[in-house]
Amino acid sequence: MATVHMSVRPEDLSQLPRDGERIPEPGVLVIFGASGDLTKRKLIPALFHLYQSNLLPERFQIVGVARRPLGDEFAGDMRAGLIELGGVDASDPKIDSFISHISYFPLNFDDPTHYANLNAELDRIAQEKQIGPDRLYYLATAPEFFAGIVENLGAQGMARPEKGRVAVVIEKPFGHDLDSARQLNQQVNAVFTEAQVFRIDHYLGKETVQNLLVFRFANGIFEPIWNRNYIDHVQITVAETLGVEGRGPFYEKAGALRDVVQNHMMELLALVALEPPSSFEADSVRREKLKVWRAIPSIPILNTVRGQYGPGIVGGERVIGYRDEERVNPESGTETFAALRLAVDNWRWAGVPFFLRAGKRMRKRATEISILFKQPPLLIFNRMHSTGPCTDIQPNLLTIRIQPDEGIALRFGAKVPTSAQMSVCPVNMDFDYEAAFGKSSANGYERLLLDAMLGDQTLFAHRDGVETNWALYNPIIDAWAAKTPEVFPNYFAGTWGPECANILLERDGYAWRNDLGRK
Ligand code: BG6
Repeated sequence: MATVHMSVRPEDLSQLPRDGERIPEPGVLVIFGASGDLTKRKLIPALFHLYQSNLLPERFQIVGVARRPLGDEFAGDMRAGLIELGGVDASDPKIDSFISHISYFPLNFDDPTHYANLNAELDRIAQEKQIGPDRLYYLATAPEFFAGIVENLGAQGMARPEKGRVAVVIEKPFGHDLDSARQLNQQVNAVFTEAQVFRIDHYLGKETVQNLLVFRFANGIFEPIWNRNYIDHVQITVAETLGVEGRGPFYEKAGALRDVVQNHMMELLALVALEPPSSFEADSVRREKLKVWRAIPSIPILNTVRGQYGPGIVGGERVIGYRDEERVNPESGTETFAALRLAVDNWRWAGVPFFLRAGKRMRKRATEISILFKQPPLLIFNRMHSTGPCTDIQPNLLTIRIQPDEGIALRFGAKVPTSAQMSVCPVNMDFDYEAAFGKSSANGYERLLLDAMLGDQTLFAHRDGVETNWALYNPIIDAWAAKTPEVFPNYFAGTWGPECANILLERDGYAWRNDLGRK
């Protein structure tokens, strides 16, 4: 298929500084669970990039908190992580000064006296470094510690100091099902007001995910056709080539539905389907998303498919099956693939199917939203010439590539040059994020950390949204848990998932798009 690449002119690019970006007030960021992977891989590199871009205040401190008795080696470890995992050049002159803002405090999450000591230490740091009273707690621990940490922060009066802004960021998974999510919300809201709570979904920090709102609402030409009159169906795929990467015990309890579909994919779906918010403010955007989720009728189990990968070949390498992964039950019934069909029952979307699929160890890494438009009412060219070289009239397709190569492409039919007959060939108009704006270093966490420090909740989940999504998926989770599928594993690693996922679409005349990624 021919492709026309769209790019930004260099003179436009020079006008794209991160202007208008606010800088947070001086404050202390306390990361609970700081010895874990997330801190080293994502959080510290994201904070460093903010620092490099002069988006952190002059006076700030990052305090890593975890059970291990670490001291200065924590800062050293974070420095090594920046270079080895964060892609930062070892000779970057800003590394030393950034690392000087990092310290460590050992703490047993269950011991109230440790929190009193932590509080005293945070006060001491704030005073010594003239930082002020603002604090942001980041819960990057295993989820079973969330409630206890919050409770202890409350008990020590660390959640609502008289002056200053105090907020808490809570990592996913937010609950394990509807009941546990409700319970956690109650525990959290007993200590922090909803305005202080930032439930993170790192998908919302991704540039192209945010760009979806700009695409829809900063352009006049798409919105008029963004509805059931023009759109035939929507597909959302989150395909990963990775397996569970040593996270067996976590994944055994999660599975694809909880890990990716119930949160990341529902956020993507909401941004595709929501009505124009009245502003880009947290309340407006979150209200519109909630309306979408509430318009989704319960999903019949017949419209769901689960899978688990067996051994196979991914990217030319032989890989083991899920049941052979480290610390995974050899008879595990956990799904590493989930696909489903759902509806959004409102005036805009009634009758338009939404197909979602997510899987590990798939053929290709691609997170993509495909909007397939209806065919023209009369296919005159196809009728006149059915035997030409390229008379395959395909429906218009808009693809929003979220990763790995971010961009937006529009497929349309064009006349094949020099063909005497009116032969039609699909071509692509392609906007490539990297080509247009240069490689972005953002990993999603930059945006979200900055917003949390600034107190902007627009890109964070509200408790109502979290509970609504659990309520939608709980019956599927229960039904799946009640019966381990006899056919697991049911797809080879390195494929597009189990055959039943194809049947889910084919039975109604649809097909998954597997030519994902940049053309
Ligand atoms: C995480 C899941 O939330 O998202 C992982 O726990 C998954 O299992 C990851 O791999 C996918 O994120 P990304 O940004 O790599 O698409």
